Amino acid sequence: MDDAKEEIRARLLVEDVVSQYVELKRAGRTLKGRSPWGVDKTPSFMVSPEKGIWHDFSANKGGDIFAFVMEVEGISFPEALEKLAAQAGVELNKYKGGDKKVAQQKTRAKEALELATKFYQFCLTKNPTVIKYAMQKRAMTKGTVLDFRIGYAPNTGKALTDFLVKRGFTKAEMETAGLLNRFGGDMFRGRMMVPFIDTQGVIGYTARVIGEGEPKYLNTSDTLLFNKSRFVFGLSQAKEAIRKNGFVVIVEGNMDVISSHQAGVREAVATSGTAMTELHLKALSRLTPDVRLAYDGDEAGVKATERAIMMAGDLGINLSVINDYQGAKDPDELIQKKGREAWQEAVKKCQPAVDFLLDKFEENLDLSSGVGKREYSDKAMKLLKYVRDAVERKHYEQLVARRLDCSVEDLRAKKIDDGPKRRLKKVALEQKSDILKGVRDNLQAIVLYGGVTSVKGVELPEDEARKAELELVFETRYKGWKSDVLEQEAQQLLVRYKQEMNKQEVAMLTEELARAEERGEEEKSAEILRKIMALKKAG
Ligand code: CTP
Ligand code: MN
Repeated sequence: MDDAKEEIRARLLVEDVVSQYVELKRAGRTLKGRSPWGVDKTPSFMVSPEKGIWHDFSANKGGDIFAFVMEVEGISFPEALEKLAAQAGVELNKYKGGDKKVAQQKTRAKEALELATKFYQFCLTKNPTVIKYAMQKRAMTKGTVLDFRIGYAPNTGKALTDFLVKRGFTKAEMETAGLLNRFGGDMFRGRMMVPFIDTQGVIGYTARVIGEGEPKYLNTSDTLLFNKSRFVFGLSQAKEAIRKNGFVVIVEGNMDVISSHQAGVREAVATSGTAMTELHLKALSRLTPDVRLAYDGDEAGVKATERAIMMAGDLGINLSVINDYQGAKDPDELIQKKGREAWQEAVKKCQPAVDFLLDKFEENLDLSSGVGKREYSDKAMKLLKYVRDAVERKHYEQLVARRLDCSVEDLRAKKIDDGPKRRLKKVALEQKSDILKGVRDNLQAIVLYGGVTSVKGVELPEDEARKAELELVFETRYKGWKSDVLEQEAQQLLVRYKQEMNKQEVAMLTEELARAEERGEEEKSAEILRKIMALKKAG
């Protein structure tokens, strides 16, 4: 695959790839623009056409075209490769060797699904009952029907299969695409077809009965193309709005996504009826840290919110909850009954997920009784373990203490059963803070390209792309600086770097300390505390 990567790199200009997302203006040998992550006040996004790389000085990210597309689209490397290969006109299959057969199968399946989608779209136009269902009952406009490529699967049993055979597809190919049932006939019959669309095109469907019936939805099961624990419904249509407005709304149903988009909230996506997984959240967290959950307020919705909080901390996500449905059961119903503004308002009025859950716990318990207080504090303290920031956690501990008329110390004295052990991700210390990353970039850039010799003990990268990126950092920030001033800057950065590393280590140890204290491991706690004190003294 390295060859394919090089071929694509040779054919595409970094400025062309980037300018699909960022408006660039020339500034000497580099190009400048606004950060696509919306964190800069002045243009802080640089591209070096010569080096084929980019660097975002406000978000502290950078790399080559692949890294850019991965970051900006929130996709994996293989997906970015595929996307850029298409732009470059590079036939990836040629490079795949061993995977060639699978790659060919995927290509054929994609072609079958594309054609099937057109077939379903055509069948919709010929069926007044289904048009009525889609446009009146579900209130979709013509534009929405076209944008989401809504169609209809006839109920004759082999309408699609016959059509695809005529177009030269084999049964095996249809099978790979997930279009056949166990008996080799049409998988989907008499249903409104809603395609699953990702960066590669249609990869499957969710198919709804027209009106009442069981099952309400029939979905493509996992295939070579479609993986339900990864797929985020609506993301390809929502991506631009998410990036532009800096938040994402996760709703429960696919129809809620469609209604939401039509109502002007284009940041909505769904996880296709399956519980949200870490893969889903990770993909979304690449686009924005502001994640708003619009789950039903019932038991299941609360549980799903709790699960999301457990994942959110590790991914650096700010989770909030949209819960003002004015009595409607889901966003779709809210929009139909109260209008688009009602939904837009609800999205704006979101509440931090922790506050939402604490309120929910309170609703379900009697806080004037001892038992109620115990249960409430159990649940609350369990939840607060997932709040990573010490100041934020303190805020909530104080809030809980006030509600229970006890002290924060009383709460901390409780032994909380954590259930299965919380996974402690070994995220490298360095990856944790943006400040640290910024300081490290500058320091490495000066040491590598500024001829600074007095600074020792800085780890330097080997990888060429990373070096090119640092060269850009150097040229942008330090070009023309006198060597003694550079030496001084390097020394100051080094101090700063050590301080930041120190802070990070203290933060990690503080977390460890909390866990050791919870478990009543006194010796270990004392040892960690000693380490923390030593670090604080050194910093
Ligand atoms: N779902 C499913 N299979 C079912 C029922 C539900 O896959 N038999 C999934 C669908 O993805 C659906 C989501 O769960 O979008 C939420 O279910 P539900 O709230 O029942 O459906 P709605 O989205 O409200 O569907 P509709 O408005 O069409 O009734
Ligand atoms: Mn609904």
